[in-house]
Amino acid sequence: MASSQSTPLLWRNVTLFDGLEQLPEPMAVLVEHGRVAGLWRENEFDPSQASGAKEAASGGVMTPGLVDCHTHLVYAGDRAAEFEQRLEGVSYETIARNGGGILSSVRATRAASEDELIAASLPRLDALLADGVTTLEIKSGYGLTVADELKMLRVARRLGELRPVRVLTTLLGAHALPPEYAGRADDYVSLVCDEMIPAAAREGLADAVDVFCEGIGFSPAQCERIYQAAQAHGLAIKAHAEQLSNLGGSALAARYGALSADHIEYLDEAGVGAMAEAGTVAVLLPGAFHVLRETQMPPIELLRQYGVPMAVASDANPGTSPICMPTLMANLACTLFRLTPREALAGMTAHGARALGLPDLGRIAVGAPADLCLWDIRQPAELAYAVQAGRLRQRVFNGAITYAR
Ligand code: NIG
Ligand code: FE
Repeated sequence: MASSQSTPLLWRNVTLFDGLEQLPEPMAVLVEHGRVAGLWRENEFDPSQASGAKEAASGGVMTPGLVDCHTHLVYAGDRAAEFEQRLEGVSYETIARNGGGILSSVRATRAASEDELIAASLPRLDALLADGVTTLEIKSGYGLTVADELKMLRVARRLGELRPVRVLTTLLGAHALPPEYAGRADDYVSLVCDEMIPAAAREGLADAVDVFCEGIGFSPAQCERIYQAAQAHGLAIKAHAEQLSNLGGSALAARYGALSADHIEYLDEAGVGAMAEAGTVAVLLPGAFHVLRETQMPPIELLRQYGVPMAVASDANPGTSPICMPTLMANLACTLFRLTPREALAGMTAHGARALGLPDLGRIAVGAPADLCLWDIRQPAELAYAVQAGRLRQRVFNGAITYAR
């Protein structure tokens, strides 16, 4: 990771989106020792307040560094052939039940070494960074043996050392039933609970535990066993839930104090209420909705009514969302789910950070970690409105400029 820069840095006259909203006036922003040290209205700024600071830039739109709170960035191979099958009308579930889908990526990922997985994943990570990401979550879930899941998590941790970015890791051992456990799903869940979770916790390789609660994944009862094991090892909880049907996975996750329930197209009002009560973030994944050509919309209006924070993430993965462009996700969240551009940007900053249990990130406030993006646009809403690579002018990670154009 880049160390925080010693010379204080100053931005003048920026249009600022603070993670929740756009500030009404242009701002001056001071960064020192890796943190935001000062924020002033430009017309009230007195340079003596930042003496010794170097001017980093003037003008542009500043946002928090983007937070991609749900990715499956580490995998080998691709699923382009499946994409073609789906276009011909074969469903995602049918492909999965025939041994393709997630299991196809499992075969390729098991066969790959750590170095091969790094080489395959780095270009995807670099694409996210070039579009403003400073924090991301990476899940395992294409290994499905103790050794291969730990291998994926080690690769995820190493990616965070190779680039100036924060990587949070999530063990998704319960992503699919591996073929060697066919007909023995409960035994596989025991492997996840009794071996995978303890090993990942012991080696410090996982920050959270996720499950795929679905007909083609795991039942609520099986997910509950996994949550109990995660809690026993002090790991945070997340869920892939209500993506293809409503099994009550989100409410179950909320009962266990989950950080987030993700996808949630089929979430009902009871589930929304349970999430509101538990403070569980709703993670919207419009890339998967788009690629699978889904029509069931997540209950956006209910989430608003109940005050459930909505995050937006890429779900970058080889099957349902082979897309490494977070600003496109902001666009899709608006066009497909009717979020406002403000909601979409909050979803990729402040609320994305909450979905990772990191409420200090994704905000621009005095004292907050200085993960920032400066964009060549006139107003924040343009990030969701236009789909265009190359708008990032500067990327600040941990107080240091790690990219400048
Ligand atoms: O978030 N829903 C399950 N998991 C992933 C898809 C993984 C895959 O198809 O490889 C998702 O959509
Ligand atoms: Fe996912």
